[in-house]
Amino acid sequence: VATNRTNYVTGLLLELPDDGRALHSRLTSAIKAAIVAGRLTSGHLLPPSRVLAADLGCSRWVVNEAYAQLAAEGHLQTLQGSGTRVAPVTAATREPGRPASSRPALVAPPVVADLRPGAPDVTNFPTAPWTRALQHVLTAADWSPPVFAPPQGVLRARQLIADYLGRVRGLPVEADEVLLTCGTSHGMAVAARVLAARGALRLAVEDPGWPRLHQVASAAGLRIEPVAVDTEGLNVDALRRTDTQVVLCAPAHQFPTGTVLSAARRRALLAWATECSAMIIEDDYDAEFRYDRRPVGALAGLDRDHVIYLGSTSKTLHPGLRLGWLVPPPELRRPMLDALDSSAAGPSSLDQLTFARLIDVGDYDRHLRRTRTAYRIRRDALVDALDRHPALHDCGPAHGVAAGLQLMFPLPHGRDDHTVAALLADRGIAVAPLSRYTVRPRPPALVMGYSRLTPTRAAWTADQLATTLADMEVDR
Ligand SMILES: Cc1ncc(COP(=O)(O)O)c(C=O)c1O
Repeated sequence: VATNRTNYVTGLLLELPDDGRALHSRLTSAIKAAIVAGRLTSGHLLPPSRVLAADLGCSRWVVNEAYAQLAAEGHLQTLQGSGTRVAPVTAATREPGRPASSRPALVAPPVVADLRPGAPDVTNFPTAPWTRALQHVLTAADWSPPVFAPPQGVLRARQLIADYLGRVRGLPVEADEVLLTCGTSHGMAVAARVLAARGALRLAVEDPGWPRLHQVASAAGLRIEPVAVDTEGLNVDALRRTDTQVVLCAPAHQFPTGTVLSAARRRALLAWATECSAMIIEDDYDAEFRYDRRPVGALAGLDRDHVIYLGSTSKTLHPGLRLGWLVPPPELRRPMLDALDSSAAGPSSLDQLTFARLIDVGDYDRHLRRTRTAYRIRRDALVDALDRHPALHDCGPAHGVAAGLQLMFPLPHGRDDHTVAALLADRGIAVAPLSRYTVRPRPPALVMGYSRLTPTRAAWTADQLATTLADMEVDR
């Protein structure tokens, strides 16, 4: 073993000077020194013993011995199924005189394939059409924005969005029924506030689901009640047993399982809402992206009295735009408008009108057609690569319909999805573990966003996943 070795897996230089001590003692000292100096920070995943042993040219016993010693001293934590990590900072592991916050973080490995779910490919933003539309808004007298936008949004924008919802989502509404928001989360905050003020105590949510909306509803005083999602979508029988009067769901494309609420479940959900005078909050976040057929229409199009509809441009244009819409049932329009008004927050009137102009001249539809094709190709490439990889036959198949910007990929039983995601991050692949979105435990899976995946990287991504799982198998 050379005196100085760079461990390429962690990108950390471990110094092992030959001072006459046994190798495992020198390795123990070297890792401890790296922790105390702040080069290895709390939570950092150490390489599997087999990998580090190969890198150092020593036996696995040496590395296991060093890890065990450091774990006994409280510097490392070894959790069943999730590898060995640097323990949270304690006085014992801190360099004297150095406050915890000043410890330099290790440089994270560069992201080679960004498969974090959530964002669209923002490099696809329709910059030229948007700039033309903005210029038009700023110069054409009949489109000029009011100095202060009304709380419900600028009329011209509401007219074009109402028209779009009727045409594309099967939700025929008038401009007056549409309220403009800063996106789904803002719409959720407004809806939760109004429902809580009218006596709602709990909100049933799909489990798994997007936790951001749960946080927003909790902040408005609603208690979250998880309801399982299965192959047909939200389990309506389980919903009935919760005794809640409000449910949040994404019927067109559940996040993150990718399920479409079946026709039978749609009927059952609407029947529940009518019988119980309950309210459904419909998160229609990515329905524009269906690749195998026309998307199912919005649930709100079938029952205007029991569905609060939320839409957004976060997936179609840019999450930073903060522009969305809320269509409440007629009975709730006034209180929702008052809540919007009193929140003193709303999207920029310039953005509202620019978006309306984009729809008006057909550029939004053109943009959707173009991005739909790009995302379909990326999804097909990823699904194909995962399906075809011979070492991934114990996993998958990819979950969900051909739609949206992410898929869920089941892992073999007993694997910890957080660990798999962390090991993939070390290989430059960013994905989300399913457990990030669950309230109750579910079989392990990865949630992979393909909106930014170059199709030629798909096979490499599948290879890296297969290698990671094989390495974990050896280490078990
Ligand atoms: C399930 C789900 N709903 C809605 C949204 C959009 O939220 P917003 O419009 O607040 O950006 C997202 C974005 O990631 C999402 O994942």
